Amino acid sequence: MNFLLSPGAGSIKGDIRVPGDKSMSHRSIMLGSLAEGVTKVDGFLEGDDALATLNAFKSMGVNIQGPDNGRVVIEGVGLHGLKAPKDQLYIGNSGTTIRLLSGLMAGQSFDVTMAGDESLNKRPMGRVATPLKLMGVEVETAENGRPPLTIKGGTKPQAIHYDLPMASAQVKSCVLLAGLYADGVTSVTEPAPTRDHTERMLRGFGCEVDVQGDTVRLQGGQTLKACEIDVPADISSSAFFMVAASIADDAEIVLRHVGINPTRTGVIDILKLMGGDIEVFNEREVGGEPVADIRVRSANLKGIDIPEALVPLAIDEFPVLFIAASCAEGVTRLTGAEELRVKESDRIQAMADGLVPMGIKAEPTEDGIVIEGGVMGADVDRVSVDACHDHRIAMAFAVASIKAQCEIEVVGCDNVATSFPTFASLATEVGIKLQVVE
Ligand code: S3P
Repeated sequence: MNFLLSPGAGSIKGDIRVPGDKSMSHRSIMLGSLAEGVTKVDGFLEGDDALATLNAFKSMGVNIQGPDNGRVVIEGVGLHGLKAPKDQLYIGNSGTTIRLLSGLMAGQSFDVTMAGDESLNKRPMGRVATPLKLMGVEVETAENGRPPLTIKGGTKPQAIHYDLPMASAQVKSCVLLAGLYADGVTSVTEPAPTRDHTERMLRGFGCEVDVQGDTVRLQGGQTLKACEIDVPADISSSAFFMVAASIADDAEIVLRHVGINPTRTGVIDILKLMGGDIEVFNEREVGGEPVADIRVRSANLKGIDIPEALVPLAIDEFPVLFIAASCAEGVTRLTGAEELRVKESDRIQAMADGLVPMGIKAEPTEDGIVIEGGVMGADVDRVSVDACHDHRIAMAFAVASIKAQCEIEVVGCDNVATSFPTFASLATEVGIKLQVVE
């Protein structure tokens, strides 16, 4: 599936709610499956990544109904109630599924092998294998720590303290989830704050999780009690429309019921530093997570040096922030973001490879990029961009078309369905001139 984008959308207008948060959707299935009792989830993201998690637990004997219009009902089997799957688990494109599951699989009595698609099979799993081995778990990977990843069951994980070598919520969560099966207290210290949905949701399931400064502690052997979960709209999906409204002329978009967990709001801070006109209102708390409505209007964006402290808090939003930088006046510099090179694609390179043919000066560095704002596509009629099997690259270039003067073809957009299956129709609804070509 390709996107074909005509240049120069007019004004961008809308009042929309994007689909449910991907991180929370994954965790709702994992914790709901391991809880005692029936967990009901609303607002579940019906995207391929979250469905990969759902199907993995179905293959391990959990009875799950739905999703039906965002509603999922999970009959929890308790911490020790999972059954060995018949085959290896196919995880698709989802890094969160494979890394969090590897922690949970460490506590089972059976072996599990997990493999993914072309993109996932290139991503590093050593970052979860290392702490799991320290916990005494037997882990096998393919060459260079890539999937398939096999977790051998039958050994009780040992509680450890782990200093995370990189700011990664997936690795933090993997260790904490393995720690649920250990005797004693497992603790993790992170080098910078990363998303804390695992900690919050564990509390929602009645677990005690102690957070002091940059360290999270969890006592093993706690029972999870079923609960009700209302998943807010994903701020990472909302980000495409925040940038769309910021760069368009005469634009106004209202995004409803967006999760604004402070470990996720870097995109708002960065756009505001660039001069974005963003109003967060109707703030409320839903099931232990802060939620709000967000209004974004056109703005004259300026290039900035992105503060490194904001990088982990906006880690998934950089592809579309690079589009904002391309439309801004002056230079934007990103540093301290080497993690972008090991996402669904090498996001620094994939974005530069799309922006440069449109005449934008985008110079990758080892840990970031330098982008000089300009007119996209001033000297070409049409560019073809490779989405590199990465949903966020595809959607970022769809947003670019608002300001581009050339036609943009984005090749390989199937993976948009991993996080935002309704993107094309919502984008069209707000005024982006997008055609889906099979
Ligand atoms: C996620 C954590 C982030 C993020 C990913 C989802 C999660 O990855 O990029 O899309 O749900 O825990 P890292 O923790 O590897 O940075």
